[in-house]
Amino acid sequence: MIPVKKAVIPVAGLGTRFLPATKAMPKEMLPLIDRPIISYVVLEAIRSGIEDIILITGRGKRAIEDYFDDSPELEMHLRNAGNQRALQTIQEISSLADIHYVRQKEPLGLGDAVLRSEKHVGNEPFAVLLGDDIIIHNTPCTRQLMDVYSHYQSSVIAVETVPSEKISSYGIINGRKIDDTISCLLDIIEKPNPADAPSSIGAIGRYIFTPAIFDSLKQTGRGIGGEIQLTDAIKALCSSEPVYAYSFSGKRYDTGDKIGYLKAIIDFSLRDAEIRDDLLEYLSRISLS
Ligand code: UTP
Repeated sequence: MIPVKKAVIPVAGLGTRFLPATKAMPKEMLPLIDRPIISYVVLEAIRSGIEDIILITGRGKRAIEDYFDDSPELEMHLRNAGNQRALQTIQEISSLADIHYVRQKEPLGLGDAVLRSEKHVGNEPFAVLLGDDIIIHNTPCTRQLMDVYSHYQSSVIAVETVPSEKISSYGIINGRKIDDTISCLLDIIEKPNPADAPSSIGAIGRYIFTPAIFDSLKQTGRGIGGEIQLTDAIKALCSSEPVYAYSFSGKRYDTGDKIGYLKAIIDFSLRDAEIRDDLLEYLSRISLS
């Protein structure tokens, strides 16, 4: 069995839900306290055992490359100022992993973004992590999927139950249950009307694919919203080889959505020993006024 060693992280979307902020900065660089969202996604991949990361970038995403790059001038400044703590943090970021960048010339959709990675991924299974989904658990979500992959040696997508008012924002699955956490995928529909949805279980931003997904993507035309949808390629894939849906363990934040982003900031602040008490004190005061 070829192990999963590569991860593709698409970050080339326009982030229209965060305009006007995303006019000048990538939504993946929005901070959760003092670290950008994308850093948590990259860390999840590394903690899962991924050795090679491919970021699919686009126009206006330069700040992401700068974030993971060396910064000799800043390092020199921190060294001269004797700020060892900040220096160490900065150096850790640039030595995190082997990161490669592939450009998606136009934001034609998530499916097109994943297809851009084909040359770099080659004929191997690989992980896909969406650059705006953060999942917190002791066993990283990607690692959980890799374990399922090791067992079935088939593509596997992470899913969770979504509230009825959000069904039309997700790829919704129809599956044959194998056990409490795993189903064999029978169908997946991108952004269905709630009345037509086969279930309330939606695909979230974590996947492991066999390289067969690339052929499915090449045969996938433009779908909903005029974009090449990854969901449509998964639908085609599951008619030619088994694809599994896995109910992951962990708490997920959809930081591409305003309320999801705010929830992540609050929860991350409450987990931060340096700011937790001050935040709680502040919140208790505003709730009284
Ligand atoms: P989203 O639809 O959540 O991101 O795509 P978006 O298009 O940037 O945001 P909105 O909806 O306009 O606010 C999911 C992921 O796929 C990437 C995005 O960067 C995000 O991580 N993506 C999307 C691409 O890389 N390329 C695309 O053409 C579309």
